[in-house]
Amino acid sequence: MSDKLIIFDTTLRDGEQSPGASMTKDEKLRIARQLERLRVDVIEAGFAASSNGDFEAVKAIADVIKESTVCSLARANDRDISRAAEALRGASRARIHTFIATSELHMEKKLRMTREQVLEQARLSIRFARNLRDDIEFSPEDGYRSDPDFLCRVLEAVITEGATTINIPDTVGYAVPELYGQFIRHLRERVPNSDKAVWSVHCHNDLGMAVANSLAGVKLGGARQVECTINGLGERAGNCSLEEVVMAVRTRRDHFGLDVNIDATQIVPASRLVSQTTGFIVQPNKAVVGANAFAHASGIHQDGVLKARDTYEIMRAEDVGWSANKIVLGKLSGRNAFKQRLQELGIELESESDINAAFARFKDLADRKSDIFDEDIIALVGDESVTHEQETYRLLSLEQQSATGERPHARVAFTVGDSEFHAESDGNGPVDASLKAIESKLQTGAEMLLYSVNAITSGSTESQGEVTVRLQHGGRVVNGVGADPDIVVASAKAYLSALNKLHSKNERVAAQG
Ligand code: KIV
Ligand code: ZN
Repeated sequence: MSDKLIIFDTTLRDGEQSPGASMTKDEKLRIARQLERLRVDVIEAGFAASSNGDFEAVKAIADVIKESTVCSLARANDRDISRAAEALRGASRARIHTFIATSELHMEKKLRMTREQVLEQARLSIRFARNLRDDIEFSPEDGYRSDPDFLCRVLEAVITEGATTINIPDTVGYAVPELYGQFIRHLRERVPNSDKAVWSVHCHNDLGMAVANSLAGVKLGGARQVECTINGLGERAGNCSLEEVVMAVRTRRDHFGLDVNIDATQIVPASRLVSQTTGFIVQPNKAVVGANAFAHASGIHQDGVLKARDTYEIMRAEDVGWSANKIVLGKLSGRNAFKQRLQELGIELESESDINAAFARFKDLADRKSDIFDEDIIALVGDESVTHEQETYRLLSLEQQSATGERPHARVAFTVGDSEFHAESDGNGPVDASLKAIESKLQTGAEMLLYSVNAITSGSTESQGEVTVRLQHGGRVVNGVGADPDIVVASAKAYLSALNKLHSKNERVAAQG
């Protein structure tokens, strides 16, 4: 059996199904590029048949990613599979991932199909897919709650038709490690042609065991692919977290005896990018990527680590991409130094004019903030004027007064296309007043689902504030992010950024639900 563990990232598909985590095509592309830098083996870029927007996003990713296999999900029918194949046409390496539910509950209540119908549909869909591509993955949805005898028949049939990867989802996060590991082993032992496919695990985190279950599927079950997402992003309690699985296999190579292709130094940048893009904040005590994951607060621990790091550290922060809050650039830094730092951070801007736009933002920030950290640069290149997001609404200036015992008041100037607007309003606080001022002019009627503020660099109030605003309108949910040393300004930027996304009608928004 191979001693390589394939890392299949589904942040852009299963992760994105998380309510509120929908991403624009450009955002997905940016994350896909980071996943390629991270050297994941397979990027599940989306579900091409689910919407025209998702089709375009999968296609755009397939056209640019060269090192990782690009995959699209498809239901087990000819139309979905054809759409997936079409979106993947430009890919250097492509995979079609098709699925159909096999548990009694799903077949009877959701699909309203008999066992024999499901078996036949699975078989035909793999036959159809194999005419279009060689690399075909099959998932029996709700596989872990399926009758093992029936499941074995389905899996044998799809392998006979040419499925090259068999993925066993614990769709509702019901499994426990030992039983899930045994389940995978049992299937592999009973399906006569099981050695013709790579076996894969796909675990949801409803009981907080997605990582443990996936690792048991690998160790006890013999699976050689893990499906996971950055920061464990995903519906409900999320999916198996990529960073935890990868670092468990790396750190405990003595136990697992497996290699992964991942460049672990890209883990923290990937985590930050996904968190910033979706507005899903990483909890401080999250393994590997949480802000406290490598912080030693107790005196005994600090003393031990100073004497010998391995007294209390099983991984090194720098190995997973944490850099100390280094002052990297300042007011006097030139364009070349800035460009070089972008390269060191693995940030590729598409053209010289993008670099110029980012540099102008950097100079503007450096005028107001003495020390510029890596985190500031990462936030700055996410700005819409640097990326290719459509920018209809743009903040020009903001002025607000607040004093103890008085109702805050804000005046905001902004542009909509070529027209300039001035608006003012009171509010419960300066942020509320500023956003109400904008809304008083635009009257978008968008409902705010989330407002959150984060310090970009920890440990000082000199940090920039990063604000995420999630808006819902007309069945679409979008996230806007804004960064500025002044959190009221950051809030107005985030609000306008979300409105820009709502405004760009041709922009994709994921099917939610
Ligand atoms: O959880 C699940 O069952 C899935 C499948 C579509 C693979 O995401
Ligand atoms: Zn899933």
